[in-house]
Amino acid sequence: MSAYRAVIAGTGGYLPERSLTNDELAAWKGLETSDAWIIERTGIRRRHIAADGETASDLGVKAALAALAQAGAEAGEVDAILVATSTPDSAFPATAVRIQGKLGVTKGFAFDVAAACTGFVYALGLADALVRTGQARGVLVIGTEVYSRILDWTDRGTCVLFGDGAGAVFLRAEKGDAAGSRGILSSHLHSDGRHGDILQIEGGAGSTGGTGLLRMAGREVFKHAVTKLAAVVDETLAANGLGHGDVNWLVPHQANIRIIEAMGKKLHMSMDRVVVTVDRHANTSAASIPLALAEATRDGRIGRGDLVLMEAIGGGLTWGATLARF
Ligand code: UT7
Repeated sequence: MSAYRAVIAGTGGYLPERSLTNDELAAWKGLETSDAWIIERTGIRRRHIAADGETASDLGVKAALAALAQAGAEAGEVDAILVATSTPDSAFPATAVRIQGKLGVTKGFAFDVAAACTGFVYALGLADALVRTGQARGVLVIGTEVYSRILDWTDRGTCVLFGDGAGAVFLRAEKGDAAGSRGILSSHLHSDGRHGDILQIEGGAGSTGGTGLLRMAGREVFKHAVTKLAAVVDETLAANGLGHGDVNWLVPHQANIRIIEAMGKKLHMSMDRVVVTVDRHANTSAASIPLALAEATRDGRIGRGDLVLMEAIGGGLTWGATLARF
């Protein structure tokens, strides 16, 4: 086993200025939705929307700078940049490489990870592997999304659910693999392509058709979410010899308050130990977990030594969990 652990040394988040409320959406002609329906079924009250011309790399670089500042790190400490996004600035250059350029980082490497809402958990798992194998000592992991650009704003079943934003963590290699050492303890990643059609973007850069918009069979995804997230949480605890009561904080992907509450219950955690942002951010896909981490580390809820479980499910289907000691 490697002597190095990937320690989450800094977190950062950025939300576009414009906030869009449920009532504003309900006032749109033909959408036929209501604040009451959206709150009851999802817990969402509002979401942020990127300005014209504001891209995933623009949001991501702001989150990254905040994470570096909190870690007390210079751009020169960054060996690798991993960006989880389903809404890249362009197919290539990768959004990660664009962010590398904007940060003025001139060494190492940068690439994007495509795993939809599970993207941040995937990228964190990959970054941990880079640190443990000695390929990188300082890694920026960013989730950044502008879903407002891929939503069908006439489909009330999807357009009310998502928002724009970015979150980032800076990982620093630190020696120590003793029990109680800080850092990422384990990651557990899964996918099952048989269910690709229930949550997808129709078309893309290499496609011969499609609208380029997000389509989701919400109820189907909901069923998979509850069972698959419960299983991966159990897998993560078992891999670390932990029980349900041992985790200090749950930082779940923020898709729906009903799924979040089900996971809190599964872990025997009261909701004051579960970080919730879905009410104010909606579902920001790969950005939701790092945005929640940034909020809860900055307001003092998550502190040094805390054991934090992160879990997510998204298009693919993809799903996974990561356990880290802060
Ligand atoms: O981040 C990736 C993972 N994504 C998820 O985890 C999302 C998982 N799915 C969900 O969160 C939920 O399934 C939704 C929030 C998307 C939908 O909630 P639901 O309780 O499963 O509702 P439903 O889709 O079964 O729709 C119930 C009713 C339908 O009307 P009828 O057929 O009963 O007359 C819908 O047409 O609600 C209607 N409906 C709406 N009504 C008002 C759907 N969207 C809306 C809306 N406003 N925005």
